[in-house]
Formats: sequence, structure tokens, C-alpha cells
Amino acid sequence: MKVLCVHHKGGVGKTTTAIQITGVFLSKRNRVLLIDGDSQADSFKFFSEGAVPKPGGERLATQEGMLTVVSAMLAIQPVGLKH
Ligand SMILES: Nc1ncnc2c1ncn2[C@@H]1O[C@H](COP(=O)(O)OP(=O)(O)OP(=O)(O)O)[C@@H](O)[C@H]1O
Ligand SMILES: [Mg+2]
Repeated sequence: MKVLCVHHKGGVGKTTTAIQITGVFLSKRNRVLLIDGDSQADSFKFFSEGAVPKPGGERLATQEGMLTVVSAMLAIQPVGLKH
């Protein structure tokens, strides 16, 4: 299953929703790949702290190997070409 959290407005809960959905799938023993495409990389930073939220807001330790978080923006590397 693929879930996309996109909205043209800022501050409407995209990151919060993505983090919560990730927590729900992990709590059901699903492996999750979360791709954070925002230059702020907020969900990447959140999971870098090593915790995921339960649906009720409580946190549980990230299960080894169940979650992969990628920051699309942080993954972009300069190539040194002049433009
Ligand atoms: N369902 C909700 N009910 C109440 N507050 C919420 C809800 N979802 C998010 N918020 C709050 O709204 C604020 C913005 O949420 P969030 O950062 O997830 O938005 P965003 O769309 O990712 O913002 P940005 O465009 O800056 O990346 C945060 O303070 C968050 O705690
Ligand atoms: Mg956000």
C-alpha cells in the first residue's frame, strides 16, 4: 500500500499525518518506507530521534528493520556543475 500526504498549503498537518500513519502500520507489524520530500525534513528528523508514535500519542521504540526513513532533500548531493 502507498499513502501520499500532499497539500499545497503549509501547516495543515501533512507531517503529523504521515508520522501517525507510519506508527499505525508499524504497530500492526508492517514494514514501512517513509520518504520525506520536504526540504524541512521534519519527519526524517522525528524518526532520527529513534521513536515512533502509537495511535494514542504514546511513543514506542523503533523496531529494528521495520522502518526505513529517507529524506529526499537531504539525499540530493551537489554535482559541482555550474549553471
Ligand atoms: N489533527 C490535528 N489536530 C490538531 N492539531 C494538529 C493536527 N495535525 C497537526 N496538528 C498541528 O498543526 C501543526 C502543523 O502540523 P504539521 O507540521 O504536521 O503540518 P505540515 O502540513 O507538515 O506543515 P509544513 O507545511 O510546515 O510542513 C503542528 O503544531 C501540529 O501539532
Ligand atoms: Mg511538514
